Order: sequence, then structure tokens, then C-alpha cells
Amino acid sequence: MCKPVLKWVGGKRQLISDIQKNLPSNYNSYFEPFIGGGALFFHLKKTGCHINDFNEDLVNVYEVVKKQPHKLIASLKEHKNTEEHYYETRALDRNSEFSKMSAVEKASRFIFLNRTGFNGLYRVNRSGQNNVPFGKYENPQIVNADNILACSKLLKETIITNGDFENIKGSIKKGDLVYFDPPYIPISKTSSFTSYTSEGFSTNEQQRLRIFCDYIDSIGAYFLLSNSSAEEVKVLYDGYRIQKVTANRAINCKSNGRGKVGELLIMNYEPSPADLLADGG
Ligand SMILES: C[S@@+](CC[C@H](N)C(=O)[O-])C[C@H]1O[C@@H](n2cnc3c(N)ncnc32)[C@H](O)[C@@H]1O
Repeated sequence: MCKPVLKWVGGKRQLISDIQKNLPSNYNSYFEPFIGGGALFFHLKKTGCHINDFNEDLVNVYEVVKKQPHKLIASLKEHKNTEEHYYETRALDRNSEFSKMSAVEKASRFIFLNRTGFNGLYRVNRSGQNNVPFGKYENPQIVNADNILACSKLLKETIITNGDFENIKGSIKKGDLVYFDPPYIPISKTSSFTSYTSEGFSTNEQQRLRIFCDYIDSIGAYFLLSNSSAEEVKVLYDGYRIQKVTANRAINCKSNGRGKVGELLIMNYEPSPADLLADGG
């Protein structure tokens, strides 16, 4: 057992089988520089991977799961699923003492807010303060000790870094695989896209990512990238293999506003022939 520790908007859980069919048949090390909830990473359970994210608080969760799982489990057990406790815990980042909280306390707060807050959303205001409302779930799972221990074991074999996606550049070698799951290019101006960091992910960043993909291709490594089916994505990745897949996603701000949304998988290789045959391709 080893499931994602967090719920994550844009998480890839329901696209795992489509992604699996489109992986190269063989590769060496696995890199995931926009790890978020890490649905694919936790599914693959490969050792010797390198994961990264821009979000410092999120990376702290993985560091603590890796190095201090027992302390984290004990701290998570202290939380209660009440509106009062939720808002008290959420308000800690408005307090000047917040920076003095230990890594374990911060990770425990992050997981608690993630499991009991509205839709597992991660959202902070301009001052970096969490502003997600209480989720009002009847029985959310705040602590799954066995899973944290299993994830800890996997993370002990994993390199974890915090920063920009290009951080991994110097470590990628020929034959390695990089899976990119960046914030998506909006399909239309009205679609609601979450800004994952206070800076967001601009068109310039999307272009910088395409240049990085060209670099990976040039050294004989593999890349697989997820993005929306916006026309701009097809233009940006013209020349690479583009596969359309369908995901069930929240399409507006109402929690029940879900629908089938086409997404794209872009890669610089042909997936293994056996998988394509199994897919009827
Ligand atoms: C779509 S989410 C990844 C979802 C993930 N694949 C999952 O299954 O849950 C995108 C992630 O990219 C991170 N991010 C945004 N800008 C970044 C950057 N410049 N470099 C690295 N990570 C970044 C966000 O913090 C967020 O966690």
C-alpha cells in the first residue's frame, strides 16, 4: 500500500491507466518536477526517483513523511474535525510565531487542512495565508498511519527538492523519464483555474517548459507532459506525439459541477507496442 498522502486539485489519479499506457516500455530514473499530490509517483512506486515542487509547504510534507513519519502520525492524531479547530489551525499562519513551528507541526497542519478543508483545495492569499473554508465532511480520513509508513519507505529512496522545475536539469541522463504535470493553460478565459502559487504559471513559463522539453529530447531522455486541450498547447508542442485522454473534472466552482474534459498527453517517443495493442491501437 502506498497512496497519495494529500488530495490535490488537478491530481492525476483517474488518468493513471491512460498515462500508464503511454509510458515508454523501458526507462532508467524517474523525475516528477511538479509533484503536487504525486498520484503517478505513488502509483509507480519506483525507487531512485527525483521529485520536486515550487510549493515549500508541500515539499515540507514529503520531507517530514520521509524522515519523521512516527512524529507526524502522533501529531495528526491530535486534530479534530470540528469547524472551530479547523479555523484555529488555519489561523496559525496569521500569527508571528508561525515561522517557529517545527517541520512536523507544519506538515501536520498542512495535511489536516487538506483532508478537512473544502475540496482538498490549496489556496493562499497575497500574504501567503491559507483561506480555504472548512469542508464540512462527515468522516474525513485525517490520519492513515499504515499509508504514511509505506510512503515514508518509498520517499527514503527518493530525492526531494523544492524550487523551480528546471532544478532537475543537471541530474537528467540519457534514458531517464521526466513526467511534467504543470498548471494547465486555461481552455477559455471563463474556466476556473487555480493559481497554485501566489505567482501563478504564465505563458512565459509554459514556453520555458517547452524549451526544457526540447533539451530533454536532445540528450536522449524521455518526457511525458500533461496539459489541457487548449489550442495553444497543440501549437506549443507541435512536432511531438500528442494523445488525447478524457478526465472527469470539476469544471466550475460548484462542487457538483463536474464533467468530462479532454486533456492532452505529449511525449517525445512511441509508447511500448504491447500497450498500444492492448488499447486496440
Ligand atoms: C497540476 S499540479 C500537479 C498535480 C500532480 N501531478 C498530482 O497528481 O497531484 C501542479 C504543481 O506544480 C507546482 N508548480 C507551479 N509552478 C511551478 C514551478 N515553476 N516549478 C515547479 N513546480 C511548480 C504547483 O505547486 C503544483 O503542486
